[in-house]
Amino acid sequence: MRVPVVAANWKMHKTAAESAAFIEAIRATSEDVGDREIVIAPAFPALQAAVEAARGTRIQISAQDLHWEARGAYTGEVSADMLTAIGCSHVIIGHSERREYFGETDGTVHLKILAALEAGLTPIVCVGETLDQREAGNTGVVLREQFTAGMGALSPEQFGKLVLAYEPIWAIGTGRTATPDIADEAHSALRSMAAARFGDSAAEALRILYGGSVKPGNFAGLLEREGIDGGLVGGASLDPESYAALLCA
Ligand code: 13P
Repeated sequence: MRVPVVAANWKMHKTAAESAAFIEAIRATSEDVGDREIVIAPAFPALQAAVEAARGTRIQISAQDLHWEARGAYTGEVSADMLTAIGCSHVIIGHSERREYFGETDGTVHLKILAALEAGLTPIVCVGETLDQREAGNTGVVLREQFTAGMGALSPEQFGKLVLAYEPIWAIGTGRTATPDIADEAHSALRSMAAARFGDSAAEALRILYGGSVKPGNFAGLLEREGIDGGLVGGASLDPESYAALLCA
């Protein structure tokens, strides 16, 4: 039985004070949804305040990125140990916005996964195709390449610790959600890749989240599908009422 994850990716939104106030606002709801794992990813400067606000609750705090080295002359970067030291439990890796605007590649995704696992962080690894790739019929090829180059060299034990997120780029922030059929098809392709590389039980245990214009109105329909194990939510996670509705979907 895979416990669904409802993960909020706040991207470049919310100060430390705003993050703490949000967590306070959803605290009561978070106690009522014991069958959901709750993960919130604020921006770096808000992580510590979020960890403190979430103390004693079921809410776990994630970073949105990390560097793969433990320390060194990497101006502007943050290491895995710095994240665990303040109480983060998760880290998002390979988000399409990092790939598009900041030169993230499958190679850096791989290094970041290793660094996160070494520090005991749960990586939430993002994959997904562009609209052009989908329209050219290349979705499967693109996902396979991202999966193989980003995760293929992990050990089965390492692979067993990560969460995968399927985020079709054409659905992110566009209001154009993948239908449950489209999402389910991609999830089952990814689960087959996991089975082929890491075995049936690893694939069966793998949680694959869907991300891309998830809203309270469409989330339940996605979650109904056997192969969809939660959501990685941007815009609709920014308002406490909307996020609380997602938790209860
Ligand atoms: P939206 O929910 O705003 O489409 O963003 C999805 C996303 O990128 C989550 O990581």
